[in-house]
Amino acid sequence: MRVVVTGGAGYIGAHVVRLLASRGDDVVIVDDLVTGVADRVAGAPIVELDLVSDRAADALSVALRGADAVIHFAARKQVAESVARPAWYYRQNVGSLAVVLEAMESAGVRRLVFSSSAAVYGATEGSRIRETEPTVPVNPYGDTKLVGERMVAASVAAWGLTAVSLRYFNVAGAGWDELGDSAVLNLVPMVFERIDRGEPPIIFGDDYDTPDGTCIRDYIHVLDLAEAHVATLDAMAQGAPRHDVFNVGTGRGYSVREMVEAIREHAGSTVPAEVRPRRAGDPAVVVADPSAIRDTVGWVARRGLDDIVTSAWSAHRFLSR
Ligand code: UFG
Repeated sequence: MRVVVTGGAGYIGAHVVRLLASRGDDVVIVDDLVTGVADRVAGAPIVELDLVSDRAADALSVALRGADAVIHFAARKQVAESVARPAWYYRQNVGSLAVVLEAMESAGVRRLVFSSSAAVYGATEGSRIRETEPTVPVNPYGDTKLVGERMVAASVAAWGLTAVSLRYFNVAGAGWDELGDSAVLNLVPMVFERIDRGEPPIIFGDDYDTPDGTCIRDYIHVLDLAEAHVATLDAMAQGAPRHDVFNVGTGRGYSVREMVEAIREHAGSTVPAEVRPRRAGDPAVVVADPSAIRDTVGWVARRGLDDIVTSAWSAHRFLSR
């Protein structure tokens, strides 16, 4: 199979590229290398391209020649930045998807896996989230993903695209040391970074309505997530065009305190965590009901907290050498 992977030099994209290449698929990466890192995918062909540049449509048409499918990861993903620069976020995330969809239509490429996010749900509370839950994003980042899903759905209806939007929960860990998350934006890399510097890990709020008062999230190992993409690609029917939307999580939540303690223990840190006030916009509990992708695609997460912490620590050590 020939697969064009936009954002294939990013943290998640590079894991998928490696899985596809290792089973013999023909992979072409399209990446602007702003947050992507070419070293992550040494050996795979990269078309260096900003998908919202003037030349994007023409260059992408060339890259799409003979392709069977597209996996579209390329996007910006910092919630705080999206609040500060909303118009830029829409141009980046929505604009680039528009270019991808138009180029796919004209090139006759009819299979798409789109990177969506649990951020489309907004402030949910309580039980495990199903895909039918109302989608009310609480920041521009989440809204760009929801608009993206709608664009994908409209393209499915219009011209025979078959697509799956995958709503990722909290992605962490590394399948290979050199593919670790180098961004230090999220809880797991943040805690490792602070432990490394001899600083206390920070817990944002311990007065939530949860058993230990800290926020609960569904942490999914990046290699499980990558396998979900490959399984989805394989399962996509060639028959009637359709758009499926699946949560990709484990269905099991861990509190921030549980995560911080697991990481401290693994790193042998004796510095206790420091509790700070709540971070604006954090819902108390975000945990997936992942049964739809299990029942339709046959994918389930196989790795647990231990694998996430061990692999993230090993990658962190490797990347900060
Ligand atoms: N947290 C801390 N201390 C830190 C960092 C984070 O206590 O140093 C807490 C946060 O307050 C939150 C939890 O850890 O309660 C997880 O925070 P992250 O920033 O790692 O992740 P979020 O759940 O906020 O968001 C992530 C992605 C988003 C995506 C969302 C979907 O970063 O892009 O999951 O649920 F939209």
